Amino acid sequence: MTNQGERAQYGAAAWAHVKGELPNPFPRVMGPNATRYLQEFVDSGMTVDLMGRFEQALARRLGVKHAIGTPGCTPALAVLAAAFGFSPGDEIIVSPISDYGTVQGLIRENYIPVFADAAPGTVNLSAATIEPCITDRTRAILCVHKTGLVCDMDPINELAVRHGLVVYEDACQAFLSDYRGRLAGTLGRAAAFSFDAEKTMGADVGGAIVTDDDALAERARFLGQSRGAVAVPGYGRVHSVPGYAYRMPHCTAAIALAQLEIVDENVAVRDRVARRLTDLVARIPGVTPLPIPEYQATYSCWMFGISIDPAQFDCAPSTFAEELAGAGLTGAGMGEYYLLSECLPFLKDNAARQVYPYSCPPASRRYTYGQDTTPVARDFLRTFIRWSTICEKYTDEHCDLAAAIIAQVAARHHR
Ligand SMILES: Cc1ncc(COP(=O)(O)O)c(C=O)c1O
Repeated sequence: MTNQGERAQYGAAAWAHVKGELPNPFPRVMGPNATRYLQEFVDSGMTVDLMGRFEQALARRLGVKHAIGTPGCTPALAVLAAAFGFSPGDEIIVSPISDYGTVQGLIRENYIPVFADAAPGTVNLSAATIEPCITDRTRAILCVHKTGLVCDMDPINELAVRHGLVVYEDACQAFLSDYRGRLAGTLGRAAAFSFDAEKTMGADVGGAIVTDDDALAERARFLGQSRGAVAVPGYGRVHSVPGYAYRMPHCTAAIALAQLEIVDENVAVRDRVARRLTDLVARIPGVTPLPIPEYQATYSCWMFGISIDPAQFDCAPSTFAEELAGAGLTGAGMGEYYLLSECLPFLKDNAARQVYPYSCPPASRRYTYGQDTTPVARDFLRTFIRWSTICEKYTDEHCDLAAAIIAQVAARHHR
């Protein structure tokens, strides 16, 4: 096991270094009822079911039958992976650019993640990049709506129907983004969300599974919240499957409930800010903002990203990013670490050494990981600069300032 570098930090601690004229999400804007709901839980001696209340409120807001609270998106996806009940060695096609949380559950279930490439010019996969990855062992497609930009889901769902595959979503970065009038998280069999402190609807370390599928919801509750246990009268708990203790804490639910009450207005700001910035940045020669698809009426933007045309500048994209950060665009940096085929060295090693489940059987073929397996995503990320300090605190003036900083650095390095 390699352990070089400092341990990663999360939540407000990860943002403590971010300073400057532009706002950042911390301290978070809190729903006015947060304290009231927390107080209610304490006053009740921990008897009110805040988790249940949040689940119902979330299901109502998203228009789904079931919402299941978890302590994060990573656990939500782990529970879903178990609830689908595929077999070790089965392949799940996954977005190439994401966070470890997307694949953790797949790995723990001994499924094999197969990274589809990115569609050209974007951070998301598409039906065209998924199709060549489909084999006789493919069981599901896990779509990540990176930065809040929704994958083009209709063609993906059509492809899945033709091959009998499950489609589900990691909608962690896309809370209330929409796709042709439907919300992210309602576009497949199920979806997972994050309410981690830094996410759009930050509520400490929370998450949820949503689905309209009654049987899947029941299985997810059983596996995720009941630890796979049934209560046998006269005996006690019997664990028929190895479930998880992934209940959303009631205190988190209290905060999440309050955050849900203000999230629509926050998302409206994020959408407006992202579109204004996109327009402004598109005018800077050599700089291209992430394209917002015409099918997306609301861009619940969690992270803003730009691509730098290396032919037009006399510096490396990483230098460009450093100078942006130095000039006040704090939090700006390269996004290369999101390339899943490269940033999970254990996956590379295990596949190369044909460790279970990469041994045949259960695997039916040899697998290789590494940046060259998703070349479009690799090349895209080499010139991609992101910053996730964009948030509901941004005003038009902040957008103008951010664009001016980019224009300034670009002008300094233009060939
Ligand atoms: C796309 C994506 N999926 C999953 C996760 C994991 O979410 P959580 O921190 O709630 O476990 C993250 C976290 O950043 C993410 O960005």
